[in-house]
Amino acid sequence: MSPSLITVSYLGAAALFILALGGLSTNDTARRGNLFGMVGMIIAVLVTIAAFVTRHHEVLIAIMVAGGVIGFILSRRVQMTQMPELVAILHSLVGLAAVLIGFANFMDPAIEYSGVEKTIHEIEIYLGVAIGALTFTGSVVAYGKLSGLIGGQPMLLPARHWLNLALFIAVIVIAVGFVGEPDHSRATLLLLAMTVIALLFGIHMVAAIGGADMPVVISMLNSYSGWAAAATGFMLSNDLLIVTGALVGSSGAILSYIMCRAMNRHFVSVIAGGFGTSGGSSAGISVEGEVQTIDIGAMAELLNHAKQVMVVPGYGMATAQAQHAIADISKTLIKKGVNVRFGIHPVAGRMPGHMNVLLAEAKVPYDIVFEMDEINDDFPDIDVSIVVGANDTVNPLAQEDTDSPIAGMPVLEVWKGQTTVVLKRGMAAGYAGVDNPLFVKDNTRMLFGDAKQSLDALAQAI
Ligand code: TAP
Repeated sequence: MSPSLITVSYLGAAALFILALGGLSTNDTARRGNLFGMVGMIIAVLVTIAAFVTRHHEVLIAIMVAGGVIGFILSRRVQMTQMPELVAILHSLVGLAAVLIGFANFMDPAIEYSGVEKTIHEIEIYLGVAIGALTFTGSVVAYGKLSGLIGGQPMLLPARHWLNLALFIAVIVIAVGFVGEPDHSRATLLLLAMTVIALLFGIHMVAAIGGADMPVVISMLNSYSGWAAAATGFMLSNDLLIVTGALVGSSGAILSYIMCRAMNRHFVSVIAGGFGTSGGSSAGISVEGEVQTIDIGAMAELLNHAKQVMVVPGYGMATAQAQHAIADISKTLIKKGVNVRFGIHPVAGRMPGHMNVLLAEAKVPYDIVFEMDEINDDFPDIDVSIVVGANDTVNPLAQEDTDSPIAGMPVLEVWKGQTTVVLKRGMAAGYAGVDNPLFVKDNTRMLFGDAKQSLDALAQAI
């Protein structure tokens, strides 16, 4: 394959990846964006094989078929609520690949550089392996926490920030010894030593994070996996890998930043690890007050007299699969002239955009779905807020208890409306494990039960 054809194909694939990211920014264009991404990846893989693989095609095909089959089965089986775990484990594979490619590249006797080129190449290898190793173990720990295989609580070692600093300094000191080391065996040992430190750093960084901060970790690991791929791209002199890695790295970093802002966390302390956990030791001040329940008939009555209704979905809507039921109810209410809107918290559910995806699946029109910032000031005018399986994202303690794990996280201020009806099965806490005083406010009514069953019954009643 001629070099110019490779360059043109890679440019085309890179352009398709950029169009994919652009498409994913709105619900309307997300499917098209995905399609661009898939076509770009097919071009990238085929051109890379045609251009660079000269032998052992059968091994490559066998590995690709095996990987493709595993990926296909996993994607068919995975529940929407398990997506963050799947994303975490996929990031771990990117990290592991960066480590293995880095070592293979370093040990390949056919690759010979000298002078400045050798120095640059060694730095690329070192960076690729370092970022890849911490992404690998960090993602495995994140997977363990999200899937419940290991405890979700943050592991806060004494002097953990000093430990992080010591590990970071060790990585720099070893780098100084590694780059330019003429003895190949000694250089390999140094690379191995750094890899062990980076693996430990990844474990420690993510182990120190817990509770409501986990979503930011996932998008940060996404970013790290992109930078690991970009460093690998430099190492292999592969332009497309550099561009793709940089796209993933920067978009992951931007998403982390947006989520940090949504949760009132500091971006820099995220990178240091264990952020947002230093002051958040309390499991929430204990909530005192009387819970007032409501039945289906009374709620239907309430809605029949409402003019302004706000639906606030959360993780419970996803587990109950109640999106179709609430979509049907909103359709009925809209037909009756009620102004129905949906208010979405940026970290509602278990992954970015979780609620938007479910509501789009249930064909809720996009123009009645609003981000938290767009509608939070409107609650005083709302007659009835229907909270469908949301908890942390509507918890007033985020504003009231500075010691709470969710302290400072902006929340949907449903309690400012006239009446709030909360649909959940019992009084269990949400993801962050914090009690919620919303449930005992004077203007709150609890409708206990599975959200889908409650909403199906409500749909009949209104
Ligand atoms: P949560 O605080 O997780 O609360 C969900 C509530 O749904 C629970 O209190 C549960 O109460 C209820 N529930 C569960 N199954 C139900 C069912 N079948 N029917 C009715 N209710 C049900 O939800 P949220 O407000 O969406 O907040 C999300 C939390 O997850 C935040 O803390 C966020 O930081 C974290 N998180 C978010 C992400 C992203 S990126 N979105 C990723 C990981 C973690 P019962 O058991 O009493 O029914």
